[in-house]
Amino acid sequence: MDRKTFYITTPIYYPSDKLHIGHSYTTVAADAMARYKRLRGYDVMFLTGTDEHGQKIQRVAEEKGITPKEHVDEIVEGIKKLWKLMDITNDSFIRTTDNFHKEAVQKIFKKLYDQGDIYKSEYEGWYCTPCESFWTKTQLEDGKCPDCKRTVELTKEESYFFKLSKYQDRLIKYIEQNPEFIQPNSRQNEMINNFLRPGLEDLCVSRTTFNWGIPVSFDDKHVVYVWIDALSNYITALGFMSEEQVAYSKYWPADVQLVGKEIVRFHTIIWPAMLMALGQPLPKQVFGHGWLLLEGGKMSKSKGNVIDPVILVEKYGLDSIRYFLLREVPFGSDGVFSNEALINRINSDLANDLGNLVSRTVAMIEKYFAGTIPSQKQSGEFDEQLKQIVMDTPKKVEELLDKLQFSTALTEIWKAISRTNKYIDETMPWELSKDEANNERLAAVMYNLAESIRIISILIQPFMPKTPIEIWRQFGLNDESTTSWKSAKSWGVYPQGTIVKKGETLFPRIDIKKEMEELCKITATEEEKKTSKSSCKEIKEEKEQITIEDFAKIDLRVAKVIEAQKVEKADKLLKLKLEVGEEIRQVVAGIAKNYSPEEIIGKYVILVANLKPVTLRGIESQGMVLAASNDKELVVATVDKMIESGTKVK
Ligand code: ME8
Ligand code: MG
Repeated sequence: MDRKTFYITTPIYYPSDKLHIGHSYTTVAADAMARYKRLRGYDVMFLTGTDEHGQKIQRVAEEKGITPKEHVDEIVEGIKKLWKLMDITNDSFIRTTDNFHKEAVQKIFKKLYDQGDIYKSEYEGWYCTPCESFWTKTQLEDGKCPDCKRTVELTKEESYFFKLSKYQDRLIKYIEQNPEFIQPNSRQNEMINNFLRPGLEDLCVSRTTFNWGIPVSFDDKHVVYVWIDALSNYITALGFMSEEQVAYSKYWPADVQLVGKEIVRFHTIIWPAMLMALGQPLPKQVFGHGWLLLEGGKMSKSKGNVIDPVILVEKYGLDSIRYFLLREVPFGSDGVFSNEALINRINSDLANDLGNLVSRTVAMIEKYFAGTIPSQKQSGEFDEQLKQIVMDTPKKVEELLDKLQFSTALTEIWKAISRTNKYIDETMPWELSKDEANNERLAAVMYNLAESIRIISILIQPFMPKTPIEIWRQFGLNDESTTSWKSAKSWGVYPQGTIVKKGETLFPRIDIKKEMEELCKITATEEEKKTSKSSCKEIKEEKEQITIEDFAKIDLRVAKVIEAQKVEKADKLLKLKLEVGEEIRQVVAGIAKNYSPEEIIGKYVILVANLKPVTLRGIESQGMVLAASNDKELVVATVDKMIESGTKVK
């Protein structure tokens, strides 16, 4: 039987030499999906490419004094290199300047004209060159492009029109009957309520004011509107309208077309209407993902931040970047990209959780079993729970990935990683190793750890192309039977006797403070360099979020300092006597460099009243006084107005 096919596309990219990490977002997501489907045994077609025509490109080339083709050739090379760097496994790459594409678009245009879906008329409207979009007067916002807020130009020209209005009702009906067609659901409502219900106007689909485009074959004053040209790529790439239609009949309709949210409109209105007019099936799904933003707003390389994908990959490694893109933000929502958030993720999820699990396990197997995977004969406490959580993970990951929920799929994998780390804490192999009698138990613990890691390494493949290979190298796994996707669904597959060997640290920890300082230096904009002003803000280590219940565990009280004295031979410490309501507490506080005993006496401070007592320099300290401090200063936290000591702070 023929294998099931899976056709996935990204938008085709405008040739820009200013590609930033946001541009990699769609491709990385599509790549993860393509890899996942291949692992599941699908015959995958993953298409990406470049959208090379239009007035904007022509203008840029003119400014550079070269032909548009020379201009795009150079940039497309760069884009292809970038995808290579990001390990994008596209099966095909289309350029709209490819001859076969141009010919097919001409045929599509001609067919639509011949059957009356395209007709000639006159157009007057406002054109936004950067967006290559026409707007009617009512669509403008303050006279500017409603999408990018830039200036629009009034244009009047003889044009061909596509009868978009004719398809309005069919489109509404189709979208309503196929709730999976536009995803996420919110975008579906937006399209119906904001565009389809108010009514569609026929679309101007040719231009005469510039010539960098595909000529209309029967009227070569005109070039085909760039969106008609561009959208057609998804089928021309498969040979539609050519003699070789094999790929087209095999892969079309697409299973999922990924697009950023700003171009959902083109992909769920114009594109399906074109396909309806051509008598072709519609893609099964158009998924509109959100934007990756910078704290200050939209991403653009000119903002001077380190969002250059090449720099990011060089600095932090490909797998870290891909992990971050797919983990940080739920697919569909907008999210903020920051180097700080990236480094925090690398340190916590990758270096700490995954990296440590792998290196600790290899080190223990080397230490306790001379690097040989032992047998798992003896089962014990915690084993079942570990197995169950790890074994439930593949199915959950599949269900989530089938819905393009990359972030939650990763969260599930990381739950299995955390569970495995916890298993080490619970079983305490270092304790077991102290007594020969526990040898079989220790063996089983090591086996279970290795087996969990094997399963985890298989599941991370769609997201991270390099890490699984390194894990398999260290764990001596090199066979389909232990590394196939299917094998992640069985426990106990790991062959006893396999040799493990310590390798490179998977994800070295990054010193966030140093790194951010360095990044600030290289990312300061030219303006900032001149004025030696820097936009770099102070970096704080981010802590995990806590719930109100977590917070409620801390008993904070107002306390009055009634006595204070220096602690001998400890120049930082003051011994304080605090009145906390009825109670008197003794607390040792590290504030002697900033407060003299006289200064602090009488102040109403804040005490952590339920902190376990400790002994400092032989003096018992029954709690802790809160203070704000940085490298230079320290100030004790007090209350704003007089209030009885012992009062709860919350
Ligand atoms: O729109 N965050 O091409 P393009 C997330 N040529 N995604 C982003 C992003 C960001 N900051 N910046 C860009 C075009 N993208 C047309 C498509 S298809 C027939 C024609 C995504 O180069 C964007 O949403 O402007 C889009 O999916 C892709 O990069 C290409 O954008
Ligand atoms: Mg765009």
